[in-house]
This record gives sequence, structure tokens and C-alpha cells, in this order.
Amino acid sequence: MASLSCHQKSIIIVLTILVAGANAADIFLTWNVSLDTTLNPISVQQPVRHTQKHICFTYIGSLLYLSGVIFLIEQVITINGRFPGPTINATTNDFVHINVFNDLDEPLLFTWNGIQQRLNSWQDGVSGTNCPIQPGQNWTYKFQTKDQIGSFFYFPSINFQKAGGGFGAIRVNNRAVIAVPFPKPEDEFDLLIGDWYYDSYQDVRRMLTNGPAQPNLPSLTMLMNGKGPYVNSSTQVYESFTVSQGNRASGKTYRFRVSNVGLRSSFNFRIQNHRLLVVETEGSYTNQMVVDSLDVHVGQSYSVLVTADQDLADYYIVASPKLSNVSNDPNSGLLGVGLLRYNGSSTNVSGPVPSGPSPFDMRFSIEQARSIRWNLTAGAARPNPQGSFNVSNVTVSQTFVLSGSNAQNGNGGVVYSTVNNVSYMTPDTPLKLADFYSNGSGVYTLDQFSTNSSNGELRQGVFVAAGRHKGWLELVLTNDLGSIDSWHLDGYGFFVVGYGFGDWTAASRFSYNLFDPVVRSTVQVYPKGWTAVYAFLDNPGMWNLRSQKLRNWYMGQELYLRVYDPDPNPAKEFSPPANLLLCGILHNKHQIHCH
Ligand SMILES: *[C@@H]1O[C@H](CO)[C@@H](O)[C@H](O)[C@H]1NC(C)=O
Ligand SMILES: *[C@@H]1O[C@H](CO)[C@@H](O)[C@H](O)[C@H]1NC(C)=O
Ligand SMILES: *[C@@H]1O[C@H](CO)[C@@H](O)[C@H](O)[C@H]1NC(C)=O
Ligand SMILES: *[C@@H]1O[C@H](CO)[C@@H](O)[C@H](O)[C@H]1NC(C)=O
Ligand SMILES: *[C@@H]1O[C@H](CO)[C@@H](O)[C@H](O)[C@H]1NC(C)=O
Ligand SMILES: *[C@@H]1O[C@H](CO)[C@@H](O)[C@H](O)[C@H]1NC(C)=O
Ligand SMILES: *[C@@H]1O[C@H](CO)[C@@H](O)[C@H](O)[C@H]1NC(C)=O
Ligand SMILES: *[C@@H]1O[C@H](CO)[C@@H](O)[C@H](O)[C@H]1NC(C)=O
Ligand SMILES: *[C@@H]1O[C@H](CO)[C@@H](O)[C@H](O)[C@H]1NC(C)=O
Ligand SMILES: *[C@@H]1O[C@H](CO)[C@@H](O)[C@H](O)[C@H]1NC(C)=O
Ligand SMILES: *[C@@H]1O[C@H](CO)[C@@H](O)[C@H](O)[C@H]1NC(C)=O
Ligand SMILES: *[C@@H]1O[C@H](CO)[C@@H](O)[C@H](O)[C@H]1NC(C)=O
Repeated sequence: MASLSCHQKSIIIVLTILVAGANAADIFLTWNVSLDTTLNPISVQQPVRHTQKHICFTYIGSLLYLSGVIFLIEQVITINGRFPGPTINATTNDFVHINVFNDLDEPLLFTWNGIQQRLNSWQDGVSGTNCPIQPGQNWTYKFQTKDQIGSFFYFPSINFQKAGGGFGAIRVNNRAVIAVPFPKPEDEFDLLIGDWYYDSYQDVRRMLTNGPAQPNLPSLTMLMNGKGPYVNSSTQVYESFTVSQGNRASGKTYRFRVSNVGLRSSFNFRIQNHRLLVVETEGSYTNQMVVDSLDVHVGQSYSVLVTADQDLADYYIVASPKLSNVSNDPNSGLLGVGLLRYNGSSTNVSGPVPSGPSPFDMRFSIEQARSIRWNLTAGAARPNPQGSFNVSNVTVSQTFVLSGSNAQNGNGGVVYSTVNNVSYMTPDTPLKLADFYSNGSGVYTLDQFSTNSSNGELRQGVFVAAGRHKGWLELVLTNDLGSIDSWHLDGYGFFVVGYGFGDWTAASRFSYNLFDPVVRSTVQVYPKGWTAVYAFLDNPGMWNLRSQKLRNWYMGQELYLRVYDPDPNPAKEFSPPANLLLCGILHNKHQIHCH
């Protein structure tokens, strides 16, 4: 087993400085993470908050029983008292240090969706890479936004906590020497949109694991930056952005960084009377494309430019769920509505909420997805600067065909989510630690489950697949359910080469776009359809491959990709951080000390 020597450690530090150059900054953040029961993002449906002292009350779960009346207590996970949490505003190659204080009553981890953690899965913050931060404890993440640029977000990764909040935006700005393929916008806005349960995340979590086979989960609403929908004549808090019309002939242009931070709903995003110029997705500049509306799936991020060239007035900003019969009535729960206000406008928002494509029109969605291409000439940080970004002629060394589905554990049992009919069981010892200390033994068995066919029966286990270091992986993701799935790979940007309906076969490869596939980290899979991506496995580590849909992820639709480089040179993969937490079978092991 490799043991870390102090000598090796100093090599890492020297190399890192050389690579990062003089421009990289250190960003130090302190986060207090706690539970807030007064925020009530959906207050219109809820009674006012309570500070009564004179009435007897009891909590059962998140329900407050008060003189025979039941009040719903929403539990929102806040960071430094804020929901959503603070934006991480970094620049390519910066070092981000985040000291997280866990003031929740349960363990906590954050993951950095789309941040590739090059050579450093130690900071990825998922159950397979890190021991959780225990309640009352703190732990400092330190990672680099290496060779990346664009729009991302973070969220709590374990215990279903994403349904309680705790998410926030990540911007990775370009370094001054790197040109951006559009003029500097007047201003930039983060817009985190997602569906949100009316009940507390802890109650929903209980229903999933303890409840009946198919619990009726509570209904959802749609929040924009943590705020409920705008509805006429209400005092409710809603989200709005003020823009300046400037010179009417041209109008000023604003960048909206829109992410779907939700739990299960893909949505269509649009702004009344305005068109959207799509320019970036998850760190790749796209061929710029004007659209009336944009589909954003769970876990995805886009930048769109919006020009304020309409009449001086207020306009609706709308996010409507796909595959859902939501009317355009802002009072109906699942429609996200905010406002775009022109500075100086005295005209209230008017007219019907703009309608988008039919939420059931999957053709619209897939055609739009296919038209999102990578701008190959835009200067930018590249996903694998050490390798090729031209996939027209690569040699694929591995193909995985992974089917996302559900399976019931016996008659009347819990319904698990699965990959190839395997539901992931989270071991107490993070896989990455097990790898480092015991070559995985006692925690998981590599390649125990098939990566190209489904088990005949439901299995529960620790699904870890070997990825070939510096090989090209073709990943075919299939979906036999009636809803839109969304898959994410940590550690990489992948090239989205194809989408289709029906079964994927070898012949489907003829339909791939190998010319200018966009590179991103989260991709949707249409109902009864497939999506194919290529990933160049040049980032050794233990990497989570998951459904971004929270229920599916929580109930087992995930696996890990172990990319192993046998070369012990620590310049290739980082050694564990000095503050490494130990747990599980390593609980009693001594920390590594370096002097
Ligand atoms: C976090 O909480 C501690 C203790 O309550 C407080 O001293 C500190 O100022 C807080 N930090 C931030 C960034 O809010
Ligand atoms: C983010 O960081 C950049 C670069 O340091 C800076 O120019 C910009 O003003 C910052 N933005 C915000 C909103 O703090
Ligand atoms: C916990 O916070 C303290 C005080 O800010 C800091 O000195 C310490 O390094 C943190 N612990 C870890 C494990 O990050
Ligand atoms: C691609 O980027 C280049 C370089 O910035 C830019 O000139 C060009 O307009 C972009 N092409 C498209 C289709 O967006
Ligand atoms: C706009 O709506 C608000 C709230 O409904 C109302 O108080 C205000 O008078 C309206 N303004 C105009 C110009 O109609
Ligand atoms: C949606 O609404 C339309 C019109 O009311 C109806 O025909 C259709 O069956 C509904 N679809 C679903 C999936 O509920
Ligand atoms: C709105 O206009 C006023 C007056 O011209 C100006 O002071 C203010 O900064 C503007 N606000 C925004 C958000 O552009
Ligand atoms: C909101 O109120 C305005 C003015 O009364 C009206 O024109 C508009 O249709 C209403 N919008 C909705 C969605 O009810
Ligand atoms: C494609 O790859 C093959 C083998 O890797 C190589 O022989 C061939 O020259 C390449 N073709 C082009 C056009 O680059
Ligand atoms: C990618 O490489 C192939 C040869 O392998 C070449 O024909 C093609 O033009 C290249 N594409 C781009 C966008 O550079
Ligand atoms: C570690 O595990 C891998 C995969 O299970 C195996 O191929 C390798 O031989 C093991 N190495 C050692 C040193 O035991
Ligand atoms: C998955 O497992 C379930 C339950 O054991 C079984 O009924 C089903 O046929 C399996 N699915 C596949 C595709 O084999």
C-alpha cells in the first residue's frame, strides 16, 4: 500500500504553483450551514410563521400541532442564513477554500456539480469520496477550478438534503487573457430554478424508505432563487430582476446563468416578449443560438443573453415543467414565475403568461438538444487540455450501456431505483478511502456488476466499474420509464454525441454527431430513449455517475467509475488532504501526519 511521504507532498505543491501561474487567487469562504424554519419560500400556501410561547405545541416530524390545528413547518437548509446559499465567484484556476460548519442535526457533504476536481476526487464531496461532516463539526474543502470556465452550482449530496435547499451558484469567470465570444454584458444574474416539495425534506425522506411501496410524495411547486411564484395582487415574495433599457434601438444585454437545481422536473424557460441567446452550457461555449424558450433538465446549467429592447414595462419570467399538464395560471403550483422589470417602468406585468411548446412535445425538446453544439473556435478552457477535443476519429476503448429504471424489492416492498437492475448501497467507508488504504478490499469488489446488460432480478450492492485510464469511454444511457431522466458524471466533461428514442443498437452510432458535440457534465435521457456520450478518462480517481433526479439518486440509481493510474507519481493524482476525515472501517486509523 502506498504511504504518503512528506517528500512527495512538497512535490505536489511545487507543481501546482507552476501549473497555476501567478494569476490564480485563493478564495476563502466560511459557511455556517443550518436549518431554518422561518423562511417559508411558499408562504402563500402556508400559515404565517409562529413565535407563540403561550400555547402548547408539539412537533411530530415537521408538523406542528397547535391547539388542534396543523401547521406545516418548512425546513430550509441555509448557508450563512441565506437560501439559496452564496454564489461562489471564482476565476479559472483559482483555489477555493470553504470551511463548512455543520450546524444541522445530521451529517452533511457538499458536492460541486460540474467542477472537475482534476486529479483530486478527494474534494468531490459525495458519499463515495468523503466521510460526512458530522453535526457540530467543520471541515475545509480545498479545490481548484482548474482549466474551467462557465456556470455551475453546488448542493448537499447526502441524506436527501438537496430537497431542503443548501444549494447555490458557482461562477467560474474567464481569466483576463482569455477572450469571451460575446461582448461583456451589462450585468450577470444567477437564476437557480427548481421544483420544491411542500413538505420538509426529512418527511419526504422518511416516506421513501419507511413508507408504503409507492408512497404518494407531496406535491411540488417551482422556486426561482428560493422564492415562490409571482401571483397577481399578493404580498408574497417572488424573484425579479431589474434591467435598463438603455438606448431603445439596441437595448442593454444581460447574462442569466440559469440552473435547474430541482428534484425531478425538467422545465422550459422563457421570458415574455424576449428571445434568449444561448451562449454557454456547463463550461462550454455553444454555437450561439437564438431561441424563444429553452429546456433545462435537472442538474443542468446554461447561460443565456437577454437584451432589454422592448417597451418600458415588466415582463414574466417563466419556468414550466415538462411532461406535466400545468396551465399558464401562475396560481397553479408547479409554474415558476418571476419578473423582468425595466428600470423606470410604471407598467405592471400584463397579458397572459407566455406559453411555451407543449410540455409533452418530446420532439421539440430533442431537436433543440441536438442543435446545441460546441463552438470549436471560441477560445476557452478546454475539458481535457492534455488530450484531443476532436472526437471525429477517436478509438473507443470501452462501451457501457446503462439502463436507469425502478425495481420493487419483493411484493409490496420498497421501490428502488436501479442501474442495470442494481440499486447502489452506500457503504460506511467511502470507496476512495477504501481504495487508498486497502485497495478496496472489505468495501467493494470491482466490476462485480455488468456494465452492458441488466440483471434479471433486482440486486443491491456497491456498483463500482473500472474505467480505463486515458481510454475513451462510450457511455450509452437508456431510460425505460415514462419520465425524463438526467445523468451526471463527476470528474469530467463528456461529449454528447447522440440522443434517440427506442432501443439503442450498434447502428445508432451512425446517427452520432462526432463533429461538434457539446461538452457538459449533465445530460437528459428522454422517456423510452437513449443518450450517448464520450468521455476521455484522463482524470484518475473515484467518480460518481448518477441520476440527478433526487429520488432516483437517493434510492440507488448511481454507480462509481474507478479510473486508476498505476503510476505512483503523486503529480498524477493527488494524495489525500492533510485534514482527511476517516470513518467506517478506517474509523480507528491514525491520520496521516506531515511535518
Ligand atoms: C458562523 O457562526 C459563528 C458562530 O455562530 C459566527 O461567529 C460567525 O460569524 C458565522 N460566520 C458567518 C460567515 O456567518
Ligand atoms: C466576481 O469576480 C470577478 C473577478 O474577480 C469580479 O470582477 C466580479 O466583480 C465579481 N462579481 C461579483 C458579483 O462579486
Ligand atoms: C475548523 O475550523 C477551524 C476554525 O476556523 C479551523 O482552524 C480548522 O482548520 C477547521 N477544521 C477543518 C478540519 O477544516
Ligand atoms: C464562435 O466563437 C467565435 C470566437 O469567439 C465567434 O467569433 C463566433 O461568432 C462563434 N460562433 C458561433 C456560431 O457562435
Ligand atoms: C401594479 O400592481 C401593484 C400590485 O398589484 C399595485 O399596487 C400597483 O398599483 C400596480 N401599478 C400599476 C401602475 O398598475
Ligand atoms: C393534459 O391535458 C390535456 C387537455 O386537458 C389532456 O387531453 C391530456 O390527456 C392531459 N395529459 C396528461 C398526461 O394528463
Ligand atoms: C435605475 O435608474 C436609476 C435612475 O436613472 C439609476 O439610478 C439606477 O441605478 C438604475 N438601476 C438599475 C438597476 O439599472
Ligand atoms: C394579472 O393582473 C393583470 C391586471 O389585472 C391582468 O391583466 C393579468 O391577466 C393578470 N395575470 C394573471 C396571470 O392572472
Ligand atoms: C483515424 O484513426 C486511425 C487509427 O487511429 C488512423 O489510421 C487514421 O489516419 C485517422 N484518420 C484521420 C482522418 O485522422
Ligand atoms: C477532426 O479531425 C478530423 C480528422 O481526424 C478532421 O477531418 C476534422 O476536420 C477535424 N475536425 C475539426 C472540427 O477540427
Ligand atoms: C487492487 O485491486 C485491483 C482490482 O480489484 C487488482 O487488479 C489489483 O491487483 C489489486 N492490487 C493489489 C496490490 O492488491
Ligand atoms: C429487474 O428486477 C426485477 C425484480 O427482481 C425484475 O422483475 C425485472 O424483470 C428485472 N428487470 C430486468 C430488465 O431484468
